[in-house]
Amino acid sequence: MKSLLSLLLASLLSVFSLPGLAQTPEAQSLLASVLALKPNAERGEAEFVAQACSACHRKDGSGKSAGNTPRLSGQHGAVIIKQVLDIRSGLRHNPPMQPRVTEQSLSLQTLADIAAHLQALPISGTIAKGPGSGVARGKELFAKDCAGCHGANGQGNQATFVPMVAAQHYGYSLRELEFIRDGKRGNSNRAMASLIKTYDQDDLLALADYMAQLPAPQRK
Ligand code: HEC
Ligand code: HEC
Repeated sequence: MKSLLSLLLASLLSVFSLPGLAQTPEAQSLLASVLALKPNAERGEAEFVAQACSACHRKDGSGKSAGNTPRLSGQHGAVIIKQVLDIRSGLRHNPPMQPRVTEQSLSLQTLADIAAHLQALPISGTIAKGPGSGVARGKELFAKDCAGCHGANGQGNQATFVPMVAAQHYGYSLRELEFIRDGKRGNSNRAMASLIKTYDQDDLLALADYMAQLPAPQRK
């Protein structure tokens, strides 16, 4: 696996000037310091279980198809780290998980190790699909409004902290889109949030339907 450091340090400065990151300078420098650690994916595999992440996200990182727990396998390491730090600080609202990722319970090195493990995990397990009726409309909307940041195949972008949204559980994606629209996710990219506010519920259903059936992107 390529080190997160080499992938990221070059782009970090430009990321800091991206509009829409609601992070404080302290949060940004904390994020940079985790990205600068040398991760050990093997240790991360054990810690994912030891820290009980696997109790909710499953051992294979596939999440829960029925509920609100996302698939983490294959997700960009930088995205995992940013989201966990945002959850820790409360910027992203996640009461069930927050107690597991406090400063006392989860060290920064362990977080870096877990992120490296998850990024390298193949996508397996069941990914819950939507009804299928919204796929055509979702495809159109995604190409027009989302692909610019999330990539044509929903692959996301490690360097700009944009999550992979392909092959994500329908229920989870729909829930996040509603949170983003209603301002409940806390850390949503602002440009995305203003866009999604203009969508109606059928548009959100269609987008979640489309993203859930997108195949897992090929890793480089
Ligand atoms: C009590 C259950 C629970 C535990 C334990 C838990 N999580 Fe979560 N996690 C969740 C839920 C639920 C969400 C989604 C919340 C939402 O809807 O926004 C989530 C979201 C995430 C996200 C954001 C994913 C994304 O696509 O944005 C990451 C990353 C994550 N968890 C990593 C971890 C790690 C690492 C651990 C262990 C240290 C952990 N989680 C432990 C329930 C849990
Ligand atoms: C300006 C860039 C940008 C655009 C445009 C954009 N997004 Fe996002 N999106 C992001 C970023 C960045 C995040 C991560 C949230 C954060 O930390 O700010 C995100 C997060 C998400 C998430 C949550 C993923 C997860 O794993 O929790 C979903 C779902 C999503 N976007 C869907 C969409 C859809 C659908 C569209 C088009 C309607 C869209 N986005 C347009 C940048 C963008």
